[in-house]
Amino acid sequence: MKALILAGGTGSRLRPITYSMAKQLVPVANKPVVEYGIEAIAAAGVKEFGIIVGDTGPAVEKAVGDGSRWGIKITYIPQSAPLGLAHAVSTARPFLGDDDFVMYLGDNLIKSSVATLVKEFEQYRPAATILLTPVPNPSDFGVAELENDRVVRLQEKPKNPQSNLALVGVYLFDKRIHDSIAVLKPSARGEYEITDAIQGLIDSKLEVRSHIVEGWWKDTGTVDAMLEANRLILEDLEPGMEGTADEHSRIEGRVWIGRGTVVQNSVIRGPAVIGANCQIIDSFIGPFTALADNTRLTSTEIENSIVMDDCELIDAPSRLANCLIGRGASIKHQKGMPKTMQLVLGDSSSVVLP
Ligand code: TTP
Repeated sequence: MKALILAGGTGSRLRPITYSMAKQLVPVANKPVVEYGIEAIAAAGVKEFGIIVGDTGPAVEKAVGDGSRWGIKITYIPQSAPLGLAHAVSTARPFLGDDDFVMYLGDNLIKSSVATLVKEFEQYRPAATILLTPVPNPSDFGVAELENDRVVRLQEKPKNPQSNLALVGVYLFDKRIHDSIAVLKPSARGEYEITDAIQGLIDSKLEVRSHIVEGWWKDTGTVDAMLEANRLILEDLEPGMEGTADEHSRIEGRVWIGRGTVVQNSVIRGPAVIGANCQIIDSFIGPFTALADNTRLTSTEIENSIVMDDCELIDAPSRLANCLIGRGASIKHQKGMPKTMQLVLGDSSSVVLP
């Protein structure tokens, strides 16, 4: 069994963040999204990983590395253009050969073990196993229709969905998927869809098994979903203190504070994670906040947010909530100015004012 992680794509729903970084590297609870998937699959005993990458390939490779820290070997596979999940699989064919593989969408987070899936796949040997979860908005996903446990039809983002069971971004395949991909035509949105390839297996009377996920699952492709993923991961945070907090500060609940971080006259209410070498002064950090390394917070309140490395949040005049703040961003309050807002925003940025 090999693993194929998809970390290319456009990431248009996460702009402007994705203008300058891969969405799979956005930190959720201070760890790049893609690493959660890699760890889950490595824990299932898979050793050979291929990672599909696009324009952001060098950054993904730099952050994730060669896999030695998880005891696995990673091969990076450039995709010429983000032409769809099935196109990513055909791009990876030289790496995959005729082996079985687990395919994992690099911006997905799933809280259930991959090991049981791999074991079941190897026991029953279907052509494919897909994971499903009930969702309130099936038209935004690939949707499966079942007869008992058997998958009888798949549709990508259907206008009139016949079920509320969305495909979760984890799939197991054997080599028969390649025959199905070889005869695919691009869909209406111009992509080679993996759902069409799996439908091809069903049409050829091959067995496609399904699993309803037990824990939660999150596609982190939008800002709201990314913040929700951050909340879900922080729910299980192990607290720890590697920095220092003075006697005027209060650390409440489950909070992790990294090396070299200094907390002065501030309240940090968990679950929250703070990276290394941050300065938190006269501030409030509320639940479900993740602050990466080297960030300076002075007289600022923030909650339910992700702040990446090297930011400055100084004297913010109102509490920051539900924010996704990219690397090196700064938010400052200039005292004595007339009441104006001075903004430098990248393309597709969004600001919600009180
Ligand atoms: P999506 O989130 O469906 O697509 P996207 O990344 O293009 O995002 P958006 O819709 O916001 O523009 O992709 C799921 C995962 O698969 C994600 O990790 C990116 C990856 N992917 C590839 O590696 N190659 C591809 O051709 C596509 C379409 C996606």
